[in-house]
Amino acid sequence: MINILIIHGPNLNLLGEREPEIYGSTTLDQLNQMLAQEAGELEAKLKFFQSNSEGKIIDFLHENRKWAQGIIINPGALTHYSYSLRDAIASVAKPTIEVHLSDIHNREPFRKISVIKEMCIDQIVGLGIQSYFKGLEKLVKHLRETSSNEKL
Ligand code: DQA
Repeated sequence: MINILIIHGPNLNLLGEREPEIYGSTTLDQLNQMLAQEAGELEAKLKFFQSNSEGKIIDFLHENRKWAQGIIINPGALTHYSYSLRDAIASVAKPTIEVHLSDIHNREPFRKISVIKEMCIDQIVGLGIQSYFKGLEKLVKHLRETSSNEKL
């Protein structure tokens, strides 16, 4: 079994209701349920977390660093400026994939910059909720390919 953290940053608690023309109509609960189902098929175990607080996300990363083998994170707007989140991802040193529902490269100029990207093995954008599913599949594949642990 592969243990993976799924982290949603600020304002993603309002998914489904928040600017649906940009972020879609699926709620965060629905998304998490669908991801959990997909994880079952991939033989992965997911732990979900959402917070509007940068510090709580960093604490969650620290607290789960021994449990997790990999991380999927949609950092929300923290993507564009949070050096402490960047450092936290570097500190826990687990393969991480950054995902975004919208195409951050084709929106306002400030969204083009990700200070998180360099700490991640991949960045997936613009596929709506499919960004998470693609990220999960890639991460599981990466962990299976790179791990010497046969239990994975
Ligand atoms: C987002 C893109 C960010 O720029 C924005 O601040 C979000 C959501 C996305 O999933 O498209 O909160 O991360």
